[in-house]
Amino acid sequence: MLLGMTTAPPTDLSTLAAIAAQMTHGGRGILAADESIKTMSLRLEEAGVPASETARRDYRELLLTAPGLSEPVSGIILADETFGQQLSDGRAVPDAAHELGILPGIKVDTGTSPLPGQGGALITEGLDGLGARLASYAERGAAFAKWRAVFDVNTADEYSAQANGAALARYAALCQEHGIVPIVEPEVLCTGDHDLAASDKTTRLALAALFDALGAAGVDLAGIVLKPNFITPGLGAAPASAADVAAATFSALSDNVPAAVPGIAFLSGGHTTDDACAFLGALNAIEGRPWPVTFSFGRALVSDALNTWHGETQKVTAAQDRLLANCNQAAAAAR
Ligand code: G3H
Repeated sequence: MLLGMTTAPPTDLSTLAAIAAQMTHGGRGILAADESIKTMSLRLEEAGVPASETARRDYRELLLTAPGLSEPVSGIILADETFGQQLSDGRAVPDAAHELGILPGIKVDTGTSPLPGQGGALITEGLDGLGARLASYAERGAAFAKWRAVFDVNTADEYSAQANGAALARYAALCQEHGIVPIVEPEVLCTGDHDLAASDKTTRLALAALFDALGAAGVDLAGIVLKPNFITPGLGAAPASAADVAAATFSALSDNVPAAVPGIAFLSGGHTTDDACAFLGALNAIEGRPWPVTFSFGRALVSDALNTWHGETQKVTAAQDRLLANCNQAAAAAR
């Protein structure tokens, strides 16, 4: 190197790839705490906690500040309300997350609505004005974002897979333009009594359309994180073994997900903590995977903590212990 020359600053892409690696490598995973105001309020009420803005903040504060959370958890997905809140000590939530060694992320889709004339198939919305929202989130410290497409095995078809793939790809390209790593989530629901083959078929349909659309949109695969479902029978059907779930999931991913994708972080989808961790562990044990696999669980990590807390200050530590136990179990499955 000539005297006086400095090393070039990292390109946006290398920054995105480094963040994606930080999110998914080394046996740490992502805590999904991004329930909408409506869903979070419902879950609080079900757990016996009167829902309010403060209760939602207190609950998310309990999760984020669990001592040692950054050992199993690399990032936390927040809802817009939480992202703009302050912890009880006055710190902005995204700033506090960074200080705690946990990357803050933001859910940016605005939910689903039926695709007209498609028999109930859903499209995820939220693209209007997304660029400006991403710029604001980036300025306030967002490292990554999440967009979730939703597929039901009974209604998904080629058209709904392409429509949702196109929306995910536009979202992902916009995120990368703003220096934010997009989590792309095509979730095939496991509610219902369908068999594993039905989940397999719909998951393959969704993944194929997604990666076609990501390619067409010019999204750099090295700067994304994929968040898929495990391929399982419906929750109302006879369960499959973790080995069968892992084999089916690995096969569908191998056929559709390029090796350039730096990490895959699974949703839990309503499966129990033990089941979701068993699926992840069995998948992680398969040799020759081109991508690291980890967790981006919501309910499988937090349900125990919420039910332990009951909105009572004296139960915060016990609730945090439950959260940490579940996060450590999931991280062990990813290691
Ligand atoms: O989008 C889905 C959530 O981020 C993950 O939630 O693990 O409870 O399915 P879940």
